Amino acid sequence: MHTLKRTVLVTGASSGIGRAIAKRLLQQGHQVIGTTRDSGKFIRPHPRFSPVQLDLTALTKLPKQLRELEQRFPAIDAVIFCAGKGQFGSLEEFSYPQIESLMSINFTSQVFLTRALLPALKRKPRSDLIYIGSEAALKGSRKGALYCASKFALRGFTQALREECGKNDVRVCLINPGMVNTPFFDNLAFAPGDNASNALEPEDVAEAVSYVLNSRAEMVVDEINLNPLNKVVKFKK
Ligand SMILES: NC(=O)c1ccc[n+]([C@@H]2O[C@H](COP(=O)([O-])OP(=O)(O)OC[C@H]3O[C@@H](n4cnc5c(N)ncnc54)[C@H](OP(=O)(O)O)[C@@H]3O)[C@@H](O)[C@H]2O)c1
Repeated sequence: MHTLKRTVLVTGASSGIGRAIAKRLLQQGHQVIGTTRDSGKFIRPHPRFSPVQLDLTALTKLPKQLRELEQRFPAIDAVIFCAGKGQFGSLEEFSYPQIESLMSINFTSQVFLTRALLPALKRKPRSDLIYIGSEAALKGSRKGALYCASKFALRGFTQALREECGKNDVRVCLINPGMVNTPFFDNLAFAPGDNASNALEPEDVAEAVSYVLNSRAEMVVDEINLNPLNKVVKFKK
């Protein structure tokens, strides 16, 4: 039983990991605000779910949109940062706008969102910031120069942020999954192997988020690494 009901902002709640987290939190009785670029994707309304349309790569518009978001939902006391994108290739295959866009969605927008909400979160009796990093935040890998850079940046950010937030009862956690069975791979040249042990399920990550969120307030879970039992990568020709 989870007696403390929270108001949780979940970015990227329309798909994959964010969607599984939003569902799990709703099942536990929390209020959930879910972001997507297209709120038409949320077809089934839920009394405790509020959709918000937000393009996190449009950085110049973000400060104003985030101010409005905060005014509309002053009760937010947790944010789960799931919006993100996988794009892989050698560096020369990326155009300059593609580099900027990947860093914006996977890193800079998350900093903007944190920056916008942090003053209010610090005034709450307790709050949580939970970021979905990746195994790519821990080790550079082939064709992953930019993706790994975006996730390493996120990891450095969360490690430093944790230091400045604890005294205000804001907990900062980074969850680093290996491959997860989601539409993340739809436009990529590879995917996890076909065996159930080759990929995590988005619900596994939701379980970890639930553990962090519901853990004793005086404890911080700083980082969690999750991996499929047997890592197998399948290349799609
Ligand atoms: N799947 C994996 O193997 C894996 C492993 C480790 C880490 N991760 C990380 O987990 C996070 C979620 O990935 P996923 O697997 O759940 O992928 P997914 O199913 O493709 O979901 C991505 C989510 O991000 C949102 N998004 C993408 N671009 C956006 C933008 N410009 N503005 C706002 N929202 C945007 C999408 O929303 P809309 O398209 O509706 O706007 C969608 O809800 C990412 O940060 C990813 O790097 C994934």
